Amino acid sequence: MDYENQFKKVAVLGAAGKMGSGILLLTAIEMAKIKFQQDDPDIDLILYAMDVSEEGLQGVMKYIEKQVRKSGERNLEQVKGYYTGDDLNMSDEELVEKYVSDVTKLIKPVTHLESLRNVDTVFEAVSENIGLKVKLLAEIENYNPGRVWYFTNTSSIPIGELDKAAGLYGRIIGFHFYNPPAIQKLVEVIESEDTVSGLKDFAQQFIERMGKIKVPANDIAGFIGNGHFIRDSLFGIKQVEKLSEELSFPLAVYMVNNITSMFLVRPMGIFQLIDYVGIDVVSLIMNVMNDRIKEETISSPLLDKLMELGAKGGQNPDGSQKNGFFRYEGGKITGVYDHESRSYIPVAGLKEKAYEKFGLTPSYMPKWKEIIKDPEKDKKLEDYFVELSETDSPGAILAMEYGRNSKEIAEKLVSDKVALSDKDVNTILKRGFFHAYGPINNYFNKL
Ligand SMILES: NC(=O)c1ccc[n+]([C@@H]2O[C@H](COP(=O)([O-])OP(=O)(O)OC[C@H]3O[C@@H](n4cnc5c(N)ncnc54)[C@H](O)[C@@H]3O)[C@@H](O)[C@H]2O)c1
Repeated sequence: MDYENQFKKVAVLGAAGKMGSGILLLTAIEMAKIKFQQDDPDIDLILYAMDVSEEGLQGVMKYIEKQVRKSGERNLEQVKGYYTGDDLNMSDEELVEKYVSDVTKLIKPVTHLESLRNVDTVFEAVSENIGLKVKLLAEIENYNPGRVWYFTNTSSIPIGELDKAAGLYGRIIGFHFYNPPAIQKLVEVIESEDTVSGLKDFAQQFIERMGKIKVPANDIAGFIGNGHFIRDSLFGIKQVEKLSEELSFPLAVYMVNNITSMFLVRPMGIFQLIDYVGIDVVSLIMNVMNDRIKEETISSPLLDKLMELGAKGGQNPDGSQKNGFFRYEGGKITGVYDHESRSYIPVAGLKEKAYEKFGLTPSYMPKWKEIIKDPEKDKKLEDYFVELSETDSPGAILAMEYGRNSKEIAEKLVSDKVALSDKDVNTILKRGFFHAYGPINNYFNKL
């Protein structure tokens, strides 16, 4: 395998999307690095940014320009190393602008697959829809039979299935970046039983050159990240359904969300996270997992109902959060959806009631934002969870049950061989979901 040759003609599918735009940025920077290192003015590298949304592609080019400029400013010494002769007489600003121009001119926005003849490598990041992914992969394969290497960013679809359905004969690997790809260090890498060894080596080298952390996962629907997140969400939904037998639905949602953020010291509560990912996306992933994991029911009529009523979550094109379980104003949660009245109930009216229901809390509750930077994090978390386990109040009991369930999910991912080790599951939750501690820990041992 020749790493550089594989980067001669590359395409990113879904380049205008949340993940595709980040993958495009990382790929453009890597291809520019290769071009500079090869020191060959005639080398012709092309990066096709492919998406059906022309408007989206225009926006992406602006995003890429801005991000490459930032990257050039941050890595000025490295950028200086790329240039020689007269170029080095330029001011730092001029040199960075030249770098921005050199990187962006590698990119060619396209809206039709026919443009992707003669590509060497494809990064696929279109919507989580197996039919769409297979159709696009098979079509590209048809234009370039037997030679393209494919990376797919799928969150849940087994790689072996995509491989067989699109007829790729092992030339595909799961390369699951986390959002946003340019910032997040983690890549979950999924090989199917047929993935060819050259592609495995290529993926490994790309990860190392990007300075990312690789966690391998086995080819089972949902992999590690969504394997945990989806089941953790289902547990949260179950708690809401139980609580709403005696409390209002919005109060139950508000309570469970706070149990997961505040009591479990996570960066956000489970329903805020579902909104962030998108209720529609979570549902799609559940469908993929439910169809393939026969011994479990992985579905939620509640999510289906919310979508029917138009509460979908996800982000607006400007990056702001769309309403879902919660209403967001200026990035803050201001209301909770009530599917009976089909309106948002102000949070202000729920807060006091929720705290009353939680009952006693430990004397010290670490805040996620502070604890992740605290050098005494482990000791403080340990003391906190000991006190939480000894607190006899509805809030503390539910939090402990939640933590125990999260641990069981994580352990099952290891025993089912989705993950290779406890450490890998913990790394995914810590690096991919920014948890302050891994789910496999000594805080939530069985009673
Ligand atoms: N969003 C996340 O947090 C996240 C994290 C990891 C993995 N993923 C996975 O990455 C993939 C993309 O997710 P996303 O969140 O970026 O989605 P997105 O909806 O933001 O982007 C999808 C892009 O695909 C484009 N597209 C749709 N049909 C197309 C076609 N026929 N040809 C070319 N482009 C087409 C859309 O125009 C859009 O720009 C999915 O498989 C998803 O499961 C998402």
